[in-house]
Amino acid sequence: MSDLTLPTTAKAVTFSAYGEPDELRLTDTAVPQPGPGQVLLRVSAAAVNALDWKLRRGFMQGIFPVTFPHVPGLEAAGTVVALGPGVDSWQLGDEVLGLALAAYAEYAVADAATLAARPADLPVETAGGLPVVADTAVRGLRLLNLKPGETLLIHGAAGAVGTLAVQFAVEDGVRVIGTAGERDQQALRELGATPVLYGDGVIDRVRAAAAGEPVVAVLHTSGDGVLADSVALVGGPDRVVTIAAAQEAGPLGVTFTSGGTTETAVEGLSRALSLHAAGTLSAPVRTTLPLADAAAAQRLSEQGGGRGKIVLLP
Ligand SMILES: NC(=O)c1ccc[n+]([C@@H]2O[C@H](COP(=O)([O-])OP(=O)(O)OC[C@H]3O[C@@H](n4cnc5c(N)ncnc54)[C@H](OP(=O)(O)O)[C@@H]3O)[C@@H](O)[C@H]2O)c1
Repeated sequence: MSDLTLPTTAKAVTFSAYGEPDELRLTDTAVPQPGPGQVLLRVSAAAVNALDWKLRRGFMQGIFPVTFPHVPGLEAAGTVVALGPGVDSWQLGDEVLGLALAAYAEYAVADAATLAARPADLPVETAGGLPVVADTAVRGLRLLNLKPGETLLIHGAAGAVGTLAVQFAVEDGVRVIGTAGERDQQALRELGATPVLYGDGVIDRVRAAAAGEPVVAVLHTSGDGVLADSVALVGGPDRVVTIAAAQEAGPLGVTFTSGGTTETAVEGLSRALSLHAAGTLSAPVRTTLPLADAAAAQRLSEQGGGRGKIVLLP
């Protein structure tokens, strides 16, 4: 491993029991060592995802068991400060973004193959919140196999994942109807989607918005109890995908997708960074907080009610 002069310990956020946000503590931990194919990042920004607090509450024990102490985090923007064996695609000092477990920390390791170079004009707080949503949007859309001119419904279209999925689908020539709250109707219009209010009667409003065109696919990112009507809307479960309602999906034959591959991670970042280069990327950041305020950050994420990513700045 080649490296700069690195400390042996650094700050990371950990929890050692399932429970409330107060379980999150800023602690001194050993700086991780990058393994084969990995790099060590000095983290500049690490975004909060809903999965982080679902894990902390113990809701995901059946799918994603954690060992204590656990450092949350799924993604980061940062500087490459050490290379694991076999890595020649990055150099020390490179500014990158990508999927990175245990990213609520001053240092985190990431797979070299899933990283992208961070353009100098992309702020770290935006970059740190792109990898998960870009990967997830690509994954959902790939499963739906959309063609230009087809009409897609996205539930939760103004959410972090939804916002990227709308942009990728619109870029592909797909007509998008997106559900969102009152606050975000105009934002969806600006992304090129037809907005519809979520809540009771949503599928009727979607039919009205479709104006006679068939809705052939549904990407569900948010909202309880809408999958059965979504299946009825498109005439079967084959082109209905959820990233958020695994239990509701099962009995309906709807696909639940979770966890990307190197290919989807790379494609997601490549697409997001192309939009950024074209000056059209919309990837809102709701707020930034210091690493020490991870509990407050997760509380905000859990409460919902704001648009954009919540990002920790070590
Ligand atoms: N399976 C995976 O691979 C994967 C990956 C990433 C995320 N996820 C999951 O996907 C979900 C969304 O993630 P995110 O990062 O996009 O979250 P987010 O940024 O918090 O967005 C959630 C969006 O859903 C909207 N919403 C609330 N109630 C709704 C309803 N009844 N119908 C439609 N939309 C509604 C919210 O609007 P308001 O602001 O008006 O409340 C908000 O715009 C989370 O549950 C997360 O855990 C899964």
